[in-house]
Amino acid sequence: MDAQIVTIVGARAGAGASTVAANLAVALARSGTGPVCLVDLDFTAGDIATMFDAEADEGGVPEAHVATRLSRGLYAILAPTVLGDPGRVPERVVSELLASLSTMYAHVVVDAPAAVNKHVVTALEYSHRQVLVTTPERPALRALGRYLDMLDTLGHDRRLRSVVINRTNPDNGIPTAEVELAARTPIAAWLPATPDIPLSINTGQPLAAVDPDHPFCHSLLSLTH
Ligand SMILES: Nc1ncnc2c1ncn2[C@@H]1O[C@H](COP(=O)(O)OP(=O)(O)OP(=O)(O)O)[C@@H](O)[C@H]1O
Ligand SMILES: [Mg+2]
Repeated sequence: MDAQIVTIVGARAGAGASTVAANLAVALARSGTGPVCLVDLDFTAGDIATMFDAEADEGGVPEAHVATRLSRGLYAILAPTVLGDPGRVPERVVSELLASLSTMYAHVVVDAPAAVNKHVVTALEYSHRQVLVTTPERPALRALGRYLDMLDTLGHDRRLRSVVINRTNPDNGIPTAEVELAARTPIAAWLPATPDIPLSINTGQPLAAVDPDHPFCHSLLSLTH
């Protein structure tokens, strides 16, 4: 197999990267296009295990390359449950992990922490698609601008990028044109703010698994193409 690797980053902390990554992984697994592996790259405070009510190992640093089965066709490399130090995980761990997962899965979805580190840079380098998640507020849009600048500085191909606007609602007081301008590229998805997301996180079942027809999941589907 030769997986399509997609890395999800948040323009700033709490933008919704893990929510998008978890639901996208579920949607891809449901699409019947082959097995999916979701990688939690947040070695210090990964949320994927909690979002799927799964058991992560204390020593779950991805050296072991052991995937946990989450549901039919969906697996995960979970972050360790103990507070880790990402600086101590050698750079090659992430490149080797992604290379090895590529041979076993059709899709690899990487949930990256908001703080950029060497592992995030490596994952972005190996990705066929980079999804940047932000919210429709000016500070978050400025953070998106800084992230896009950084990707330009690192020499990444702009055609690999998609921008997703999360937690949208009709009356947040910011003109659509301003959001579109900040994205610098056509917006790949507008994901509505909904109490069903925190509810799904608290019940350990991503929304795409329990209510795939939910407007949030519908909007997310454009990312699976
Ligand atoms: N569309 C949404 N509607 C309502 N709440 C949302 C939505 N998306 C995310 N949230 C909430 O926002 C919070 C942050 O989401 P999430 O953990 O996905 O962000 P993150 O970017 O991964 O954060 P971190 O920087 O901690 O990795 C969660 O509590 C989640 O319930
Ligand atoms: Mg996260």
